Amino acid sequence: MSNILVGVTGGIACYKAAYLVREFVRAGHNVKVMMTKNAEKFVGHTTFEALSLNKVLRDDDTPTPISHIDYALWADICIIAPATANIIGKINAGIADNELLSTVLALTCPLVLAPAMNTNMFHNIAVQENIKSLKSKGVNIIDTESGLLACQTTGEGKMAEPSQIAEKVIYILSNRKNNLQIENDLLNGINILITAGPTKEYIDPVRYITNKSSGKMGYALAEEAYKMGANITLISGEVNISSSLPDIKFVTSADDMYNLFLDNFNGADIIIMAAAVADYTPDYKHNNKIKKKDEVMELKLIKTKDILAYAGHNKTDNQVLVGFAAETDNMEEYAKDKLSKKNADIIAANDVSRKDIGFDSDNNEITLYFKNGDKRNTGKQSKSDIAKIILTESAILLNEKRNN
Ligand SMILES: Cc1cc2nc3c(=O)[nH]c(=O)nc-3n(C[C@H](O)[C@H](O)[C@H](O)COP(=O)(O)O)c2cc1C
Repeated sequence: MSNILVGVTGGIACYKAAYLVREFVRAGHNVKVMMTKNAEKFVGHTTFEALSLNKVLRDDDTPTPISHIDYALWADICIIAPATANIIGKINAGIADNELLSTVLALTCPLVLAPAMNTNMFHNIAVQENIKSLKSKGVNIIDTESGLLACQTTGEGKMAEPSQIAEKVIYILSNRKNNLQIENDLLNGINILITAGPTKEYIDPVRYITNKSSGKMGYALAEEAYKMGANITLISGEVNISSSLPDIKFVTSADDMYNLFLDNFNGADIIIMAAAVADYTPDYKHNNKIKKKDEVMELKLIKTKDILAYAGHNKTDNQVLVGFAAETDNMEEYAKDKLSKKNADIIAANDVSRKDIGFDSDNNEITLYFKNGDKRNTGKQSKSDIAKIILTESAILLNEKRNN
């Protein structure tokens, strides 16, 4: 049973916060609610007092003179749902001009925001920058959904359903309790080498062979590891991701990635290979654009160097190697085969035939296959949460290796 602080701000989705509170209470948690003045224009505070059985923290009537400190210290987790564009901006800027915002500034527990707003508001560059900045500060943002909005337009910006928000909050709470110690202790100061994104294999100056990898999984791993205090070297193919990570090393081809990987391999404690490296590359790159002539054109491809196999066969006893397997069928068989052939410590396998996860999606579902025969399925979660699981498992393995 945990202490859950629910913040409610002024949007149409306020009524959904009542379902959220009810969900937490029914699950046996202690719930307190804080509301902005604007939220009270949508739903009265009495509703929340009846549901939570606790006094609501409001601007006009604070339970104690320093309620913002009391509520902040009481909370094991704080979820703001709905989170307006206004409140998102103010939290990011560190503004504390009402009770809810003052409480947020005084929190020592995880903060989760469930944004809800009109699509144009959501896509506004200022809102997007605020969300990105909050994420980089460790605030958990629950993805909005696409659908029919109160303003009768259809698009992104709809608040996630209360049941999904509740699930996420509980997950963060339990994950924090289970992993906080491990995350804090084991990754601090560890050197992690991560590869991400696709490679491009040029045929001539304007044509190339590539794949659907977006790089999101590799970047999520690098960003989470960075937040946990690890030293990150990220080698990235060309991706459409803006990241505030320092020192990203960009490459184009599989051969570039191999060479840069070799330069950084020895110093790494944990190596996570999330890049989708081309298996084959044209045997000859034309200097000039190939002209259209014959009915049939043959392209000869040759195997690229196998970076994962190199790492597996050259790693020391104190290096942990994690490979990825993106499969469309027979996932378990291929993953286990890869684990043994490449001499990896963990293979993170995902089913890329599924539309709701994998390439270019913000979510993923991964099964981790371990050298000792264990396996662990993560369930469908955001790539950031999956990244935390992979990092924690890698850190535990590293610790075991070091203690052997
Ligand atoms: C009918 C109505 C619906 C609104 N819905 C939203 C919304 O869903 N999301 C949002 O960010 N702002 C919405 N707004 C604007 C906010 O209420 C406004 O920005 C307000 O200042 C937010 O205050 P607060 O963040 O302190 O609660 C709405 C305004 C009105 C009048």
